[in-house]
Amino acid sequence: MSTGGAPLLAVEGLSMTFGALKAVQDLSFTVHDGEILGIIGPNGAGKTTAVNAISGTFKPTAGRVTFDGHLVTGFAPHRLAELGLVRTYQATTVYGTQTVRENCRRGAFLHLYPGFFDALISSAKARAMRAAVEKEIDRLLDWLGLAQFADTEARNLPYGVQKTLGMAIAMAARPRLIMLDEPVAGLSAEETDHVRDTIKRIRASGISAIVIDHNMRFISGLCDRVLVIHHGQELAIGTPAEVMSHPDVIEAYLGKGHAAATAKANHAAPGH
Ligand SMILES: Nc1ncnc2c1ncn2[C@@H]1O[C@H](COP(=O)(O)OP(=O)(O)OP(=O)(O)O)[C@@H](O)[C@H]1O
Ligand SMILES: [Mg+2]
Repeated sequence: MSTGGAPLLAVEGLSMTFGALKAVQDLSFTVHDGEILGIIGPNGAGKTTAVNAISGTFKPTAGRVTFDGHLVTGFAPHRLAELGLVRTYQATTVYGTQTVRENCRRGAFLHLYPGFFDALISSAKARAMRAAVEKEIDRLLDWLGLAQFADTEARNLPYGVQKTLGMAIAMAARPRLIMLDEPVAGLSAEETDHVRDTIKRIRASGISAIVIDHNMRFISGLCDRVLVIHHGQELAIGTPAEVMSHPDVIEAYLGKGHAAATAKANHAAPGH
């Protein structure tokens, strides 16, 4: 991970309001090349809304989003995908009646968006392009352990495999940064381990990630830095160790008494 130089993603003063509700308030954070940033916080904290406001689902009420040096605030999802910023959804949004391969094609078309339709003018060029896409999808399915399901309709897949398919669709768009909204929600311990390994392999291949989850253990075992959101605002940001020992985080997660007890214990520890 390189933390020097310009960040890949810079979010500054991001806010999103729905009527009177301030779902996200003045959030600022960065993601560097090769970094995994975790976003954690209770239900309704604003995690998904933050990703929605970055990924073009909503136009943020205020703030700036810069990706790879481009100011991309409010850009539509396909324009962000062309630049290499893609996301998955909290609820699986795979098309149930499409096969795994067909679902992945939709992801691939995101990065082909401008070129693909030009290529339709020349059918030889279009054929070559389609063949290249199929080859890339084969490689991707193989890499994610989905090859055996290539021609299975998504609705017939176990839930855990559907979640991996969600990642495959995003990966087919050739991202530089992938935003994963609760990739392990509802998964068994074994499936969770598999997804954690997959995210680590995605990063090892040079792709950065934002990972949203509720589970501090999962997030801290995976992420370089963690942003804790509470009532739409930053509660803490730092390495997993820094965040987990932050008094505000301890209080929010474990209650006031625990925070006081921990502070006392730290105070009483030798060397303090
Ligand atoms: N489209 C919308 N219109 C109105 N209110 C919304 C909309 N989307 C989200 N909200 C509200 O914004 C707040 C933040 O919701 P959000 O879904 O971002 O939380 P979250 O941290 O992702 O929660 P969870 O852990 O349950 O997924 C909530 O109060 C929610 O009801
Ligand atoms: Mg959410």
